[in-house]
Amino acid sequence: MNHKIEELENKIKNKMHEIGYEVEEVVLNPSNRPDLGDYQYNGAMALAKIYHDNPMKIAQNIVDKIKNFSEFKQISVANPGFINISLSDECLIAFANHSLEDISSNYHLGINKTIFLDYGGPNVAKVLHVGHLRSANIGQALNNLCKAVGCNTISDIHLGDWGRPMGMVILEIKTRYPNLAYFKDDYNGEDVDFQLTNEDLLELYPTATTKAKENESIMDMSRQINAELQNKHKGYYALWKKIVEVSLNEVKRLYKDLNVDFDLWEGESDNFAYMDELFKFLYAKNIITESEGAQVIDVKEETDKKEIPPLILVKSNGAVSYEATDLAAIWERTHKYKLDEIWYIVDKRQELHFTQVFRACIKSGMIDDKTKLIFNGFGTMNGPDGKPFKTRDGGVMPLSDLLDNVTDVCEARIMESIKENRREIARQIAVAAIKYADLLPFRTTDYNFDIDKFTDLNGKTGTYLLYSCVRMNSLLKKAKEANIEFAKIQTLTTENERKILIAMLDLKRIIKRSFENYSLNEICEYLYKITNLYNNFYAENKVLTEKNEAIRSSWLALTKLIFDNNQQLLNILGINIPEKM
Ligand code: ARG
Repeated sequence: MNHKIEELENKIKNKMHEIGYEVEEVVLNPSNRPDLGDYQYNGAMALAKIYHDNPMKIAQNIVDKIKNFSEFKQISVANPGFINISLSDECLIAFANHSLEDISSNYHLGINKTIFLDYGGPNVAKVLHVGHLRSANIGQALNNLCKAVGCNTISDIHLGDWGRPMGMVILEIKTRYPNLAYFKDDYNGEDVDFQLTNEDLLELYPTATTKAKENESIMDMSRQINAELQNKHKGYYALWKKIVEVSLNEVKRLYKDLNVDFDLWEGESDNFAYMDELFKFLYAKNIITESEGAQVIDVKEETDKKEIPPLILVKSNGAVSYEATDLAAIWERTHKYKLDEIWYIVDKRQELHFTQVFRACIKSGMIDDKTKLIFNGFGTMNGPDGKPFKTRDGGVMPLSDLLDNVTDVCEARIMESIKENRREIARQIAVAAIKYADLLPFRTTDYNFDIDKFTDLNGKTGTYLLYSCVRMNSLLKKAKEANIEFAKIQTLTTENERKILIAMLDLKRIIKRSFENYSLNEICEYLYKITNLYNNFYAENKVLTEKNEAIRSSWLALTKLIFDNNQQLLNILGINIPEKM
């Protein structure tokens, strides 16, 4: 007996080769007519074109050759050439028990690339808002998915910690506290007793940027300070370090709740160190030209359908651009690591920026064709009205407020009997609700934030999934407490059990497609589907009080299989299951 659906597909393929049908692969698709079979193979239609033969006849030839496989309960041909297959119970049980023994084999695709992921991307001294949520959620989930399928990954937060706004904030601090040691000519890097909180920064940043925009001389002074900062002026640099630290602490606190973590906590400032090397290289390639006072690289191509403007490397005011920062980042990353791919999980409205950057890399020969640069843009999260998400007074919604609001709603819905750690559990549920809702639409799709919908215990939601998993887990715990032993699935009794196991067999394909599409939506849909199937089974049967021991232990093993599997999939999404809720 085979242990995996791929083995069965291969076995069918080999038999087809024997009768002269040269196919590259055989894929059994879950049937959308379950009354006719569990699976459908529809390759006969394509073969009919190749071999100039009747598809019904080809299907029949294949069936004649494989009909005696012990894996099949039933096999038949249907117009215009479909092969419908039902698997035997023994076969389904063998597949399921193999999965149960080695849950990770359901995810491992044997892809062993090294992938660098750039996500998160918050900006120092600026409020972490809902826009940064998607980058963190999707980026982390893709990172987890990459690892599950077998890849090595390196993740980087790519902090926006460099540039003119830094000069503005420093100037504003200098205006308010001119006597701070940072601003003394003889400042020598010593510690300065200056209390700065994230709340201070959230007030300082908008004040400073508004002032600079409204007043040309303030703008000039900010530029000047920024230039000195970039030359590592001692005082400005020390103050800047402090600003970064305060910001990063808040970012880390929120990301921890969201189960988001990075291998590298680097920022644009780190890439900046490679700017000179990069510029030397680019100038030597003779691809930089001057245009209206700016240094640019022409990146348009003949096949372009819409105009791709030149990449601006250095602006006419002498400032180094966002594009240059990303080029320096690629320079650093490809010089430090041997990478197969670099993935960017960034708002899709930045697509043009990345098109320009990627083209400049290729045009300059900065990276070889072995490293692929991939832009994974995502859509926006809008308010319930379908417009960009705003607070009641029209401002941007800070991520921490959003998390707190959803936590409040979830806390009100937790069982009253739970007295300890209510807030922590509520937070965990809130994170599940937010993340699931965020990962459910295809990556590039916009969606509306809807707190009631996202936290509904009876919908396609994170809360529903957690609640179901907690219940599975508590069933398993009760069995343990009652010393009920179980190990493998021995028998299938109800139609719902079959449906669950057939759905299990589809998992690897879901994982593969998710990886290929850089999107978690199919995993989210799949989790909902299999959990529903399990809940139908659960509603129908009394597992613990079942008298027949073989049936009871099979049901418990099935429960463990679905719980383990859901736990793994939720982990990929960055969601943890609480003990109780
Ligand atoms: N900090 C940027 C922003 O808030 C996002 C950074 C995206 N990553 C990158 N390598 N450019 O828009």
